Amino acid sequence: MKVLIVGGGGREHAIAVSMKKSKRVDKIFCVPGNAGIAQIAECDSSIGVMEFDKIIAYGKEKEVDLVFVAPDDPLAAGLVDVLEAEGFRVFGPEKRAAILEASKAFSKDLMRKYHIPTAEYETFDDPEKALAYLEHSNMPIVLKADGLALGKGVLICNTLEEARAGVREIMQDKHFGSAGDVLVIEEFMTGPEVSVLAFVDGRTIKPMASAQDHKRAGDGDEGPNTGGMGNISPSPFYTEEVDAFCRKYIYQPTVDAMAAEGREFKGVIFFGLMLTPEGPKVLEYNARFGDPEAQVVLCRMKNDLLDVVDACIDGTLDKVELEFEEDAAVCVVLASEGYPVSYEKGYEITGLEQFEGKEDYYCFHAGSKLDSQGRVVTNGGRVLGVTARGKNLEEAREKAYAATEWVSFANKYMRHDIGKKIMP
Ligand code: AMP
Ligand code: GLY
Repeated sequence: MKVLIVGGGGREHAIAVSMKKSKRVDKIFCVPGNAGIAQIAECDSSIGVMEFDKIIAYGKEKEVDLVFVAPDDPLAAGLVDVLEAEGFRVFGPEKRAAILEASKAFSKDLMRKYHIPTAEYETFDDPEKALAYLEHSNMPIVLKADGLALGKGVLICNTLEEARAGVREIMQDKHFGSAGDVLVIEEFMTGPEVSVLAFVDGRTIKPMASAQDHKRAGDGDEGPNTGGMGNISPSPFYTEEVDAFCRKYIYQPTVDAMAAEGREFKGVIFFGLMLTPEGPKVLEYNARFGDPEAQVVLCRMKNDLLDVVDACIDGTLDKVELEFEEDAAVCVVLASEGYPVSYEKGYEITGLEQFEGKEDYYCFHAGSKLDSQGRVVTNGGRVLGVTARGKNLEEAREKAYAATEWVSFANKYMRHDIGKKIMP
């Protein structure tokens, strides 16, 4: 089979590496891809993920048998629907289902209607009403832009002053563009966070191994929120008891709710969970693999990824037994100094060859490209996701950090405490 992956980050590199292992995959294409993906797939860096017409033309020209749409923006904008209408076989939720991530107001209303545990909230389209509501709210409080904002549209406000400023920022100054037309104001919760990604075929849901993101830019969870500076799998907080609760009260109810709303979900649902003193609650849903969650979860999956993807599309996921290695994985993101605010790119990356032939080590490319002289150079805020597997988290962590020393580029930046807090 010929598979086309839409996307160009570390997540897509991890998906491509897993697809490559499938016995049934003959060739992988990727748009736009990156320098790492280009080692195992044919990429066309001139095609952006929102250029639907170009993606269709490319898929037809290459006669691909399957399109895997990985990023949030094209999913929210209906790339899956458009491709299906053109006769492609596609993995990913249609637009009406991708709204689970694309609108926080939608997802909150869904959870309220179907009694899925989540933080209390109110929704506003009028800034004056939002400001008035704050006057009698407890602090801290959480403000969330309704739409997609690169994972940055969430403000945790400790004081009324901060919260007022946040409402203005999101709803009036439109820091996140039209994503801030509607605002969700949410109760502040506490507890460890866990990510669980799950395959869904419309009716059946099969959770993957748990993972744990490190969203803040700096050590000790300081600094601004990012797309994710590192990840570990499994999460030590995700006990069997938590798993049993989530399957019963969160995972299956979410899939059933979407089906009941006429928004049957096929693809991957990413549950952002908080383990609060009152039990697990949903922080957010994503309608896709996480980045860098995919990097630590997929490398531990025993199943053939293509088999699972096929089962999701065909509605036969109930026949699949998902299996994961009993080991652990840690991903440390090497970023450009200054990410996520401002950073330089175009610096040569050296040492990548050290990963060749080393089992249990992966160097997933996120923001890289080949320059005109054929050198691999930095091309984004998150540059590489250095990942290692080990028999437990401690070993995986040691290996991953050792491997971060193998590569160099001018403004290399990383966190030094990925997974540290939770090590024995
Ligand atoms: P989200 O994009 O919704 O996952 O939010 C980004 C981050 O903000 C989460 O990973 C949490 O750390 C934090 N957060 C979101 N909602 C809440 C909440 N209701 N209470 C406390 N922290 C939250
Ligand atoms: N790492 C979080 C995300 O992909 O949204």
